[in-house]
Amino acid sequence: MKKQDYSRRDLLKLCGVTAGVSALSPVPCSIAAALSDPEKPNFRFAIASDLHFGQKETAFAENIPLLISRLNREKVDRGLDAVFLNGDIVHDSSTAYEAVKTNYLTKLNTTYYAIKGNHDYVDGKKGSPGESWEKIWGYPRNHVVSIKKLTFILADTTAQQQASQYLPADIDWLKEQLDARKQDEAIFVLMHIAQRRQGVQGWPKFGVGLDNDEHAKAGEAVMTLLESYKNVRAVFHGHDHDSVGRYVSEKKPYFFDSHVGGSFGNRIGYRIVEIQADKSIATYQYNMQDSIMMNQHSL
Ligand SMILES: [Fe+2]
Repeated sequence: MKKQDYSRRDLLKLCGVTAGVSALSPVPCSIAAALSDPEKPNFRFAIASDLHFGQKETAFAENIPLLISRLNREKVDRGLDAVFLNGDIVHDSSTAYEAVKTNYLTKLNTTYYAIKGNHDYVDGKKGSPGESWEKIWGYPRNHVVSIKKLTFILADTTAQQQASQYLPADIDWLKEQLDARKQDEAIFVLMHIAQRRQGVQGWPKFGVGLDNDEHAKAGEAVMTLLESYKNVRAVFHGHDHDSVGRYVSEKKPYFFDSHVGGSFGNRIGYRIVEIQADKSIATYQYNMQDSIMMNQHSL
C-alpha cells in the first residue's frame, strides 16, 4: 500500500498530545483509532468547496490539481465512494464550467456532485450552455443523491448570478425531501452558505441574514427543520474559507471544510467522512497544504 501522510501510531500520538493540552477540545482517541483502522470503511466520501476556478491573481491552477491528486490518492489508500463539491466551483462566471470540467474534474477518479455556490453563476438565457444548473451538471440546483443506503440532500442557498446574495434554502422543498425519507438510515445535507447569521450563538462569518432580518429568520427555520429529523446526521457548509471545524445547534453538527481556491482563507483542504461496518460515522478535516488531519469528530 502506498505510504499515507498519517499513520495509526501518529494519530494515536496526536490524540494523546492534543487531549493533554486542551481540555476544551480533546481529540477522542477512539475516533482517531477508527480513522486509522487498517480495515477500509464501508463508505467514505469527501467534501471540498470553494475552488474558485478562474479567479484572477489566485493559485487555482495549482490548488485544483493538488485537490484532484489528493482525492485520487484517498481512493487508492482508504477508498473514496463519492466527492461533493460544496459550491464556488468557478468564480463569478456562467461560462467557465466546461473548462474546469475538462482541465480538472474529469481527472477525478470518483463520482462527484456539485452544489451551487454564490460565485457559481447561471445566466438563465435559453439555449446558453450556462442557462441553468441542470444544463451544466445534469441535475437541478436542489437535488437528492442516494448512494447505497445513504442520502445526500444538495440544497441551493444562492441567487442566479449575484455573488453578494446569501439565501435561506427552500424550506418547503427540504421538508418534502426529509418527510419522504424518514426511514432512511442516514441523511447528509450539503449547502454552500450557513443558515445562521454571523455571531448568533458564536456562528462564523458569512451566514445568511446579516443585513436582512427576513433571511435570518428563514435561515433559522431551515435549521430548526433539519434539527427535527433524527436521521439527518450532519450538515456541511462551504463559503467561509476560514472555518474548518464543527458547530453544534440542538445537538446537530454543522461542519465547514476551509477552501481550495480563492483569495483568502485558512489552510487549504477538504473534509472526509467515514462510515464503518458497525454504522459509526467519523469525520475530519484534511489540511492538504501541510498534509495533516485535524478536527476529528464522531457523528
Ligand atoms: Fe461562497
